[in-house]
Amino acid sequence: MHENINRKWWKEKVVYQLYPRSFKDTNGDGIGDLKGIIEKLDYIQSLGIDVVWLNPIYESPNDDMGYDISDFRSIMKEFGTMEDFDLLLKGLHSRGIKLIMDLVANHTSDEHTWFKESRKSKDNPYRNYYHWWDADKGKPPYRWSIFDKESNAWKYDATTNSYYLHIFSEKQPDLNWENPEVRNAVYDIMKFWLDKGIDGFRLDVIACISKDISFPEMPKDMPVGEWFPYYTQGPHLHDYLQEMNREVFSKYDCMNVGEMSFVTTDNALLFVDEDRNELQTFYHFDHTGARISKENFMYADDDNWDLVAWKKIFYKWDKAFAEKGWGTIYLGNHDMSRMVSRFGNDSEEFRTLSSKMLHTFLLSMRATPYIYNGDEIGMVNTNHTNIENYQDVYTINYYNQLKQKGEDHDGFLNSHAKISRDNGRTPMQWNDTAQAGFTSATPWLAVNENYKTLNVEEQESDPDSVLNYFKNMIQLRKKNMTLVYGAFELVDEDNQQIFAYTRQLENDKFLVILNFSDQTAVLNTSIEINENNILISNYKQPHHNNVYSPMHQSFIN
Ligand code: NOJ
Repeated sequence: MHENINRKWWKEKVVYQLYPRSFKDTNGDGIGDLKGIIEKLDYIQSLGIDVVWLNPIYESPNDDMGYDISDFRSIMKEFGTMEDFDLLLKGLHSRGIKLIMDLVANHTSDEHTWFKESRKSKDNPYRNYYHWWDADKGKPPYRWSIFDKESNAWKYDATTNSYYLHIFSEKQPDLNWENPEVRNAVYDIMKFWLDKGIDGFRLDVIACISKDISFPEMPKDMPVGEWFPYYTQGPHLHDYLQEMNREVFSKYDCMNVGEMSFVTTDNALLFVDEDRNELQTFYHFDHTGARISKENFMYADDDNWDLVAWKKIFYKWDKAFAEKGWGTIYLGNHDMSRMVSRFGNDSEEFRTLSSKMLHTFLLSMRATPYIYNGDEIGMVNTNHTNIENYQDVYTINYYNQLKQKGEDHDGFLNSHAKISRDNGRTPMQWNDTAQAGFTSATPWLAVNENYKTLNVEEQESDPDSVLNYFKNMIQLRKKNMTLVYGAFELVDEDNQQIFAYTRQLENDKFLVILNFSDQTAVLNTSIEINENNILISNYKQPHHNNVYSPMHQSFIN
C-alpha cells in the first residue's frame, strides 16, 4: 500500500515526553525517580504512545534541573542508579516502547571533571574543551546570557585571569566543539548509551554547538530576532552534524530530534534532507511566540494571539517538508507553560473541551507528535505570583536582577506567571490523595491545587475524560496512515476562530475542524460534511449547518 510514501518507523511514532523530576517519587524525598517511572510503566503503556523521551537523568548539581551535567555516564543520585535505569529500559522495551534520552552537548556543568580541569591552568589538557577569553586582551565582546544573574554570558575566573563563555547559567560553561577531542568525547557518550540499548536522542540546543569563535562585537540594541549569528548555527554546524551522523547515527537504527533555534523554512532541509546525512527531525519555535510579548519574551501578552497567523506558521512548515525531510509537532514541554493554558482555554468551563481539541490537532498533523506528560489529562498552569513558589533558575535570576536594579520585579512576576517554565513542571497529578499521589513528602515544586478534581485516577474511570479521548485519538492516528503521511491543506484559512484542514492520501480524506474560540463559529467550506462520518468529537451533539460550538472539534472521514 501507499507505494509513493517514504515510510520510516520514527515518522509513525507518537512520543511522550516525560519529566522525571515530577513524574513519581518512590523514596519520599519529594523528587521523582526512575523507580517511580518503573511503577507507572503500565500507565505509560496504556496511553498507546510508542516512544518515551526522558529529560536529563544524568548526574547533575541541578542548577538548571539536569541540563547541567557533571557526569554523562552516571545517573543523578536523586533519580536512582544505573540498575534502576537498566530495569526501566527493559520495562519499556518489553512493552514495545522505545526510549530516547536528552543529549546536552553544548555545555556541561561547571562541576564536570572536564571543566574543573580546564579552569586549573592555561596549559591543562582540558583547557581547550571550553571557550576561554584571556583577560589580558581586555573584556570579551558582550554576549547576552539567558540564565545569568547579570545577563552576561562571560564569567571572569581569577585562577587563570580569563573569562569563560556560558550562554546559559554560569554553571553551564559552553563546550568548544572546534576541538575534535570534545566532539569525539561526545560521540563516545552517545555510543555508550546506544550500546546500552536506548533508541535515540533529543539533542539539546544543538544549533548552538558551532559558534563564530572570533566572537565579533554585537551591534548595540540589536533586536532579539536578529541575534542568531552571534549564538547559533555557526560556520561548522553542518560539518559537525554530518560527522555525528557518520560516527554515531549511521551505526544504529535510532531516532533523533534536534532542538533548533532560529531555523527557518528556507534552511530547514539543510538539516533534515536525508541525502545530507545530518538529522532526521528537529523542532522549531515559530508557533511558541503566541501570547508572549513581542518586545520581551520574558513577559506574557494575552493579546498576541492571531489564529490566522498561527495557522499559516503550521502551513508553511508542513510545506517545507512536503517532498523531503520530516517535521515534529508539539504544544507543550518542560520549557513552556501548560498547553491548554497557552494555546487553548483553561477555564473550568472549557478546559476539558479545549484539551481534547488540542490533542486532536497534535495527533492529526503531518509530523511526529510530541506529547508532554500531564497534557494527556489536561493539566493547567499554576500562575504563581510569589517568587517563593519558583525553582527555575531562569525566573529567579531575572526576578532578582530586576529587583537589584530597582525595576518592577512584581510586575514581571505577575506577567511571567502565565508563561513560566515551572507551570509545566509541577508534579503529575495521579489521584486525589495528598500531593496528588506524587510523593509522601513535600514535593520539590508545589502540586497544582486543582489535583483533587484533575487527576489520572479520576480520568481513567471517566469515558469522557481528556485522558480517554487522548487514547482514542492515538488509536485513530495509528489505524490511519493518512493521518501520518497524508497531504495537509487548510480549509477556510482566513477564518479567525476555526482551524480546519484536510489530510489526504490517495482517495482517503479526512477533514479536521477545530474551533479555537470561546464563541460559536461558522466554517465556510464547500466540502460536504456528512454527520454520520464523524470519527471523533468532543461534543455529543453533532454540529449543524457548519456552525460550531466553542472549543468544538470534529474529526471527519
Ligand atoms: C533547552 C532545554 O530544553 C532547557 O530546559 C535548558 O534550560 C536549556 N536548553 C539549556 O540546556
